[in-house]
Amino acid sequence: MDIKKLIRSNIRDLRPYEPGKPIEEVQRELGLEKVIKMASNENPLGPSPLAVKAIGENLNRMNFYPDGGGYYLKRKLSSFLDVDENRIILGNGSDEIIRMVVETFLNAGEEAVIAEQSFVIYQMAVRIVNGESRLVKLKDYRYDLASMAEAVGRKTKLVFIANPNNPTGTMVSAAEVESFMKKIPEDVIVVFDEAYFEYIERGDFPKTIDYIRDGRAVVCLRTFSKIYGLAGLRIGYGISQPEIISGMNRVRQPFNVNSVAQTAAIAALDDGEHVGKSRELNCRGRDFLYRELEKRDIRYIPSEANFILVEVGDGTGIARALLKEGVIVRDMFCYDLPGFIRVTVGLESGNKNFIEKLQDVLRSS
Ligand SMILES: Cc1ncc(COP(=O)(O)O)c(C=O)c1O
Repeated sequence: MDIKKLIRSNIRDLRPYEPGKPIEEVQRELGLEKVIKMASNENPLGPSPLAVKAIGENLNRMNFYPDGGGYYLKRKLSSFLDVDENRIILGNGSDEIIRMVVETFLNAGEEAVIAEQSFVIYQMAVRIVNGESRLVKLKDYRYDLASMAEAVGRKTKLVFIANPNNPTGTMVSAAEVESFMKKIPEDVIVVFDEAYFEYIERGDFPKTIDYIRDGRAVVCLRTFSKIYGLAGLRIGYGISQPEIISGMNRVRQPFNVNSVAQTAAIAALDDGEHVGKSRELNCRGRDFLYRELEKRDIRYIPSEANFILVEVGDGTGIARALLKEGVIVRDMFCYDLPGFIRVTVGLESGNKNFIEKLQDVLRSS
C-alpha cells in the first residue's frame, strides 16, 4: 500500500514552505558558536520591551484558554487604526489570515491573481483549496499593476499585492494603486499585504484602509512579526469589510491567537519608542549596506523594507558558503531569482560582518 497516495493530489506535489534556518540548528549542524540570522526579516533589536514586560505580568493566566474573540486587542487596534472592531480579525501570524481569506472565498477552480515573484504563501494557500494561481511577472523587480489588472478575468475572485513586496523590497505608490483599483471589478477581493508597513518612509504609500472605508472589497494585512519584534508569538491582523471579516470568522479556529501573543501585541502598540528605534536602525543599516555593496560593485535592489535583494551570481552557492561562516541569509531559488540572496538588515555589527563574509565568499567562489 502506497500511503502517499492517500494525500490529496493537489497537496502531494506541494513543496513545503522552507523557512530561514533557526540559529540553533546552524550552530548544532555546523558546530559553530557565533551565528547571525539575517534570513527571515526579523527585528534585530529584539521584541518590544513593553511587550516583554506585559507578558511577564500575565504568565500566570496560562491555565485559561485565550479570549477567542481577542476583545482587548481588537479594541486597542480599533482606536489605533480608527476602524470599527467588526472590521478587524486576528490571526496566528498574517500567514493564517492569508489562509483564511483563501479558504473563505476561493472555490475550487476559481482564480487568484498573484505576482510571480512574491510571498510564496499566496500560491500555496490557493493550491490547498484547489484554486488556480494566475501568475503575473514583476517588471523591473516591481509589481506590474497594469498587467495584474489585465490578468483579472471572469474566474478571478482574489488579487494579492504584497506592498512592499517580499522578496524585492519594492513598493507600489498610492497613485498606482488608485488607477489599479479603478480597473478592478467590485466583486474581486484585493488583499494588500502590508507586513512591512511600519518601515515605510515614503509619503506616497497607499492608504489602503481608505478603500475599506469607501466600501471596496479590500483586505489589509499587517503583522506584529516585523517591526514589533514578536515573530515567535505568531500574531497578525486583517482589516476589511464587516461581511468579509464575518465570513473569515467562520473558518477561523476558535482559539487561533494565544493569550501571550494578545497581551504582547496590546503592549507593543504603545511602544512607539521601540518602533522608532527599530525604524531608525533599519534606515542606517540599509544605507550602510547600500554604500558597502556599491563600493564592491555588487548590485542590489533598493528596498522600502528591512531586507535587501542582492545579486551575487550563484545565490544558492553563496548562501551556503555564508552559512558555513555563520551568516544565515536566504537563497532565492524558490522565488525564481537564482542569482540573488535576500539579506535582512541587522545590527551594525551584523551588517559589517555580513559585508566582510560576503566579500570573502565572493572572492573564493
Ligand atoms: C509579505 C509577507 N506577508 C506575510 C508574512 C507573514 O508574516 P507573519 O509572521 O505575520 O505570518 C511575511 C513574512 O515574512 C511576509 O514577508
